[in-house]
Amino acid sequence: MIDVLPLQPGHLPAIEALLDQRFGPARHNRTAYRLREGATPLPGSSFVAMDGDTLVGSLQCWPISLRSVAGARLPMILLGPVAVAADREGEGIGSQLVRASLAALDAADSPPVLLIGDAPFYGRFGFTAAATRQWQLPGPVDHARLLLRGPATGLPRIAWVEADSSAAKVA
Ligand SMILES: CC(C)(COP(=O)(O)OP(=O)(O)OC[C@H]1O[C@@H](n2cnc3c(N)ncnc32)[C@H](O)[C@@H]1OP(=O)(O)O)[C@@H](O)C(=O)NCCC(=O)NCCS
Repeated sequence: MIDVLPLQPGHLPAIEALLDQRFGPARHNRTAYRLREGATPLPGSSFVAMDGDTLVGSLQCWPISLRSVAGARLPMILLGPVAVAADREGEGIGSQLVRASLAALDAADSPPVLLIGDAPFYGRFGFTAAATRQWQLPGPVDHARLLLRGPATGLPRIAWVEADSSAAKVA
């Protein structure tokens, strides 16, 4: 029996251990980490999956922003990393975490949600790379993995995705 619960600060050591297990210590060099620098996970849209007292999955969301050529900054949410313990894959835990997070973000009428990840997994939740082809990040990114949820209505075609810990105090 898996419980999907809001992330609490006390979960962080177990989350870090899980992320080391799934992504390795070099994960800190990834471009996504540069977007999260100085930010704390958004409490209302970050979740853990617990099997009793054992943390078997986690998903964190972060405030970021999208800066247009004209300099306007739009708040956005960076979703991820999502991780599930290697011996618990394929049980639907990752999907439960993504659904919980998106439901919380929708309920809070959140800004658009962006992630860097596998389109075959995230496509089922409404993420596509269609709008992000000309968005730049503070590091290398495979644009086929830079995925936005929902329509890009009102978002710039050319833009910079940046860290912004003050941009989105929602969910
Ligand atoms: C990706 C991950 C979170 C999926 O968690 P999970 O609990 O195994 O996922 P689910 O059981 O909910 O799987 C749902 C479906 O996604 C598919 N899937 C899982 N990972 C996938 C991937 N990387 N690419 C494509 N499809 C994937 C599963 O095969 C399953 O398909 P099905 O519904 O047709 O059977 C997990 O494999 C993981 O932690 N991987 C290592 C870390 C990682 O890559 N995280 C994602 C990038 S941020």
